[in-house]
Amino acid sequence: MIPLNENIIRSHIDETKINHPLYFHLLDTIHSTNRFLKDLPPTEGIVICCAETQTQGRGRFGRVWHSPFGENIYFSARWRIDEALSCLSGLSLVVSLAVLKTLSEFDIKDNLTIKWPNDILWHKQKLSGCLIELLTTGKTPAEVIIGIGINVNSKLDDPWCSLLNITKKQHDRNHIIGRLIHHLNQYLQQLITNGFVFFLEQWQAVDGLKGHLITVSQPTGILSGIVQGVNNTGQLIIIDTNGTPHNLSSGDTTLSKNKPRT
Ligand code: BTN
Repeated sequence: MIPLNENIIRSHIDETKINHPLYFHLLDTIHSTNRFLKDLPPTEGIVICCAETQTQGRGRFGRVWHSPFGENIYFSARWRIDEALSCLSGLSLVVSLAVLKTLSEFDIKDNLTIKWPNDILWHKQKLSGCLIELLTTGKTPAEVIIGIGINVNSKLDDPWCSLLNITKKQHDRNHIIGRLIHHLNQYLQQLITNGFVFFLEQWQAVDGLKGHLITVSQPTGILSGIVQGVNNTGQLIIIDTNGTPHNLSSGDTTLSKNKPRT
């Protein structure tokens, strides 16, 4: 196992493209890298925390994120956003596109899809997930915590998978983290400048839900319908069983076993 190493990570980032100072906290063990960054006082710049293991790694909807020592990437970034928060519509989708772009540099271009808003799947098995949290008082600058878990060197079974499962070899996590920071920075700058619409075509090429019958669990209840795609702000468009359209900003989606509808 190659331990987390700041010099190797930095060697894979083109720092001339990053407009803010970049700080690293590479830890052996922590409750959760997201929570570690949340508890820091406000800082200028981009702060990254990665750990060899998390004792209370968290997924979306309060789920547990298993974090075995030294095997996978448990990554969080605290990013300051100087622009209006409305610039961030579609942020989770754009983060997942940046993760997918990163992964595609490691011998797995084909068969990667995204299950809205941000599960990266390989042949429908989950390779990576993101947990995004907004730290804000409603005023700018706001800060976001972008938490990303990528299964790298663990041997996993369906419905999970790892880079090791896919490529049959071990990967240096430092290399992947460096590329991830590079792409996140580039994609976030593009989102702030151009809005989610800039990424729409890129999203459509990897949309794993379009045309499928799904159920979405929301605070107001469960909704079933056929996915039409996403709109210009990244909301999921579903037509329910009565033919009524819904635009969803968040929710836990489950694919039904049925074949895609055309
Ligand atoms: C999900 O798919 O449910 C989201 C998983 C997010 C896991 C990452 S691992 C690094 C960061 N720290 C956490 O506690 N969670 C995120």
